[in-house]
Amino acid sequence: MGIREISISGHKLTIHELEDVCDSATGRVLTGSWLWDSSLLLSQWMATRAEDIRGKSVIELGAGTGLPGLTAAMLGAGRVVLTDVEALLRGLERNVEVNGLGERVEVRELVWGSEEEEEWVSSGARKGEGEFDIVLMSDVFLEVEAMGDLAKTLKRVCGSGSQVWCGSEVRQWTYECLGQLVSEGFGVVELPSPVGVSDGSWDLFSIFHLIPPIEGCHVGEYLVLEGLGDA
Ligand SMILES: C[S@@+](CC[C@H](N)C(=O)[O-])C[C@H]1O[C@@H](n2cnc3c(N)ncnc32)[C@H](O)[C@@H]1O
Repeated sequence: MGIREISISGHKLTIHELEDVCDSATGRVLTGSWLWDSSLLLSQWMATRAEDIRGKSVIELGAGTGLPGLTAAMLGAGRVVLTDVEALLRGLERNVEVNGLGERVEVRELVWGSEEEEEWVSSGARKGEGEFDIVLMSDVFLEVEAMGDLAKTLKRVCGSGSQVWCGSEVRQWTYECLGQLVSEGFGVVELPSPVGVSDGSWDLFSIFHLIPPIEGCHVGEYLVLEGLGDA
């Protein structure tokens, strides 16, 4: 853990990782304290979609140290909200600050499925700010039991035109997690060989697009686009 200098599409982003941030209930170190490789993959892939990001509203769920959200801001997103559990917000705020992105990036507590902490999403929705054009997530498909709450949050922050982009290491339980989201009505499209990072070093990682079940439209399907880098 330490300070990471990340180059995305020729631009440098500085990410401070946190030391010893533990869950107050379990005493375990919080996984979002450090940068996961999936967030590097997602950010590099996003750099190939800069046109789709420019001027858009973006939220990152389970942001950890916030690289994909900061990348979105660096690529010209109009508004970015980085969210995670309370203990990680201080680190996120520091990463926003050291990269000089405070004008367009805000940091918020958002625990998936929680009514209280999502009040700001609902109140934002009343002002036309509660739905985001792009939802980012990286390495959040870890616990099958958490997917119901994640689905609830996703349905709140997505509108009919929202794009949901996820970077993930592909582990045995990744598909179980995605299966839960499919049973909640989401469509899932897997891009196993993302554009720009297909040099072989990312074989165990994929980009997933989720299609939210908006306005009663239940998608509930899983599709793998073999060898395709774009969808
Ligand atoms: C494996 S870490 C990935 C962190 C970061 N996205 C990355 O790729 O570097 C998983 C993240 O999801 C967050 N997370 C897990 N469960 C959550 C929940 N129920 N509500 C909000 N965030 C959650 C964790 O706090 C952590 O930051």
